[in-house]
Amino acid sequence: MTDKELMELAVQARERAYVPYSQFKVGAALLDAQGRIYLGCNIENAAFSPTNCAERTAIFKAVSEGVREFKALAVVADTEEPVTPCGVCRQVMAEFFDPQMPIYLGNLRGDVLKTSLAELLPASFTSKDLESGGSHD
Ligand code: THU
Repeated sequence: MTDKELMELAVQARERAYVPYSQFKVGAALLDAQGRIYLGCNIENAAFSPTNCAERTAIFKAVSEGVREFKALAVVADTEEPVTPCGVCRQVMAEFFDPQMPIYLGNLRGDVLKTSLAELLPASFTSKDLESGGSHD
């Protein structure tokens, strides 16, 4: 699976976005350690806050299928610059992604920014922080 192929799958996933409120379609394609792909799109809601981003849809699909080892993520939207994940998605990524895992952010024009969680969410709060804290009483 090349970076381009993963990005193309994210473009296809974007077509399934359910976005009656923002009209802002986002697609994601998540590659696991076995070479399987989990697609995600954003799914909006009339109450707004239950909205799920494309990235989290893909991650939650994989984790709910028992998959927790990932190799790469591609995200795409129809933006001038490569789309940038929201803070909530970055925190969910921090739960499952190696900080150095490649994350490809793109747009429909074909611009691609290769980044990683180490860049998107440095000094993230993870399970390690929970282990090193707490009062234990
Ligand atoms: N959204 C995503 O799905 N991923 C991102 O990286 C940015 C934001 C969605 C949430 C909402 O449905 C719409 O884009 C506008 O915020």
